[in-house]
Amino acid sequence: MYAQMVKTDAARVRSLDEMEPQERAFQERIDAGQKIEPKEWMPEGYRKTLVRQISQHAHSEIVGQLPEGNWITRAPTLERKAILLAKVQDEAGHGLYLYCAAETLGISRDQMYEQLHSGKAKYSSIFNYPTLTWADIGAIGWLVDGAAIMNQVPLQRCSYGPYARAMVRICKEESFHQRQGYDALMRMVKGTPAQKAMVQDALNRWWWPSLMMFGPSDDASVHSAQSMAWKIKQNSNDELRQKFVDQTVPQAKYLGLTIPDPDLKWNEEKGGHDFGEPDWEEFFNVIAGNGPCNAERLDARKKAWNDGAWFRDGLTAHAEKAADRRAAAKIAAE
Ligand SMILES: [Fe+2]
Ligand SMILES: [Fe+2]
Repeated sequence: MYAQMVKTDAARVRSLDEMEPQERAFQERIDAGQKIEPKEWMPEGYRKTLVRQISQHAHSEIVGQLPEGNWITRAPTLERKAILLAKVQDEAGHGLYLYCAAETLGISRDQMYEQLHSGKAKYSSIFNYPTLTWADIGAIGWLVDGAAIMNQVPLQRCSYGPYARAMVRICKEESFHQRQGYDALMRMVKGTPAQKAMVQDALNRWWWPSLMMFGPSDDASVHSAQSMAWKIKQNSNDELRQKFVDQTVPQAKYLGLTIPDPDLKWNEEKGGHDFGEPDWEEFFNVIAGNGPCNAERLDARKKAWNDGAWFRDGLTAHAEKAADRRAAAKIAAE
């Protein structure tokens, strides 16, 4: 599958000279750093790319609540419980901003949910891994939210206005998520040897899936070149992964932990770390639905949707009755 993706990337980004006037004007606005707003003309490919990316991002926020929500009742102290509860609620809010941003592009919330529930839409592969211990919750904040920040900060400058503005609010909250995770781990590594071992075990399991969050190398990514030209994407996957590794290595050292990568070493010449290659076969396998928790996550989302049916039905019935009453009152007044 990896090799297949490399091959399909043959699609080339067209130059301004090759574009029709309308598309050229659109591209020139993007090149000039202007934002594109919902009602404005846009190429169909731009719209589709954004719908796919924003809805997948929204799904990731919502599904991302599940591995952590699982620990709210088991948080070790009242303070940690309040912090985790606030974080998980933030993720719900992120999902809602993003579903709203996607809706401005002409897709409905129901359609997006349908795509998630049927397996047509994807979400971040990281949320298909289980949270086995309390240290996993700290590791998720530190590494998963940390990687999310790396990905999301440049999206604040994305060319599509509603997406860029949603990201500004989201990034502020992500910083708190990263911080609370690191803080929880810091407390644990100062605890008993068993607690410290639990943190090291969490790092061992979350390190590689976190690196995979940036996606495969751009040479292998079907959508990268066009997304860069449209300023939907500003940095290559490898660039962001490198930044993440360079930021995280000293943080791991401060915690007294070992990153589970024998190839990891400082490269003086490039001013960054060399590191090993994630297992991309595992990545594609998890994306394809075969990760440890894919079925469980989707079942939880479908159950939430089905359990809410009575409420949606109630709202619709109330709206219909209210409309009937307004119509009757109008007739009576005439
Ligand atoms: Fe989030
Ligand atoms: Fe977060």
